[in-house]
Amino acid sequence: MRLDKFLADCGAGTRSEIKKLIKRGMVEVEGMDAAALKPDTKVSLESRVFLGGEELEYREHIYLELNKPAGYISATFDKRQPVVLELVPERFQHFKPFPMGRLDIDAEGLLIITDDGALAHELLSPAKHVPKTYYVEASGSLSAEAAELTEKGLTLEDGYVCAPAKLKIIDPGEESGAAKAEIEITEGKFHQVKRMFSALGCEVQYLKRIRINGLELDPELRPGEIRELGEDELEKLKNGD
Ligand code: URA
Repeated sequence: MRLDKFLADCGAGTRSEIKKLIKRGMVEVEGMDAAALKPDTKVSLESRVFLGGEELEYREHIYLELNKPAGYISATFDKRQPVVLELVPERFQHFKPFPMGRLDIDAEGLLIITDDGALAHELLSPAKHVPKTYYVEASGSLSAEAAELTEKGLTLEDGYVCAPAKLKIIDPGEESGAAKAEIEITEGKFHQVKRMFSALGCEVQYLKRIRINGLELDPELRPGEIRELGEDELEKLKNGD
């Protein structure tokens, strides 16, 4: 593998930044003459590479946690609307990451952006029943039986019967007409949460994903902010808790 690719995969910068770092002698490779290093110098995954004296850790894939803001679509490209890939820093773009699953344009919250197709396939597979939790604000009120009906499996307007889901009512909205709840689902049908609330007689006004499997949305991450997952967080995403 080329040295500039190794450095880029470690998140050391864009290709042009990396070229400059190598030229300035900031990069060292164990067993090689630093002055002779070039962007196309061949290294291997086992090479020990240092940037500014610090050893870099090679990684094959990236796993980013985005707090998706409203107004962006969960896609890599669109002719008309802003896409979540525009929120990914330049230094990760060469991985060709993509959003793992979808959130509606008006929804916010936890969206994983990765280049790991195998993990995405695993977590998105309907057969895996990976739980996802949403915080919901809806107009209307939630009846006392709403949680029980949701647990049994709601029937949507097109006749589809949902898998059992967990509804935690925060405010039934009896007086205000504005209900608040959290719902955990294990499916990912089109507009699923909105349609489930519609089946409960409410209209979703605000939707935010707060958890996927064992990984919670970092409360410090504001809408539009993105960061890499730590190893323990990746474990929680993969294996639940
Ligand atoms: N359910 C919805 O209705 N919308 C989303 O974005 C996610 C789940």
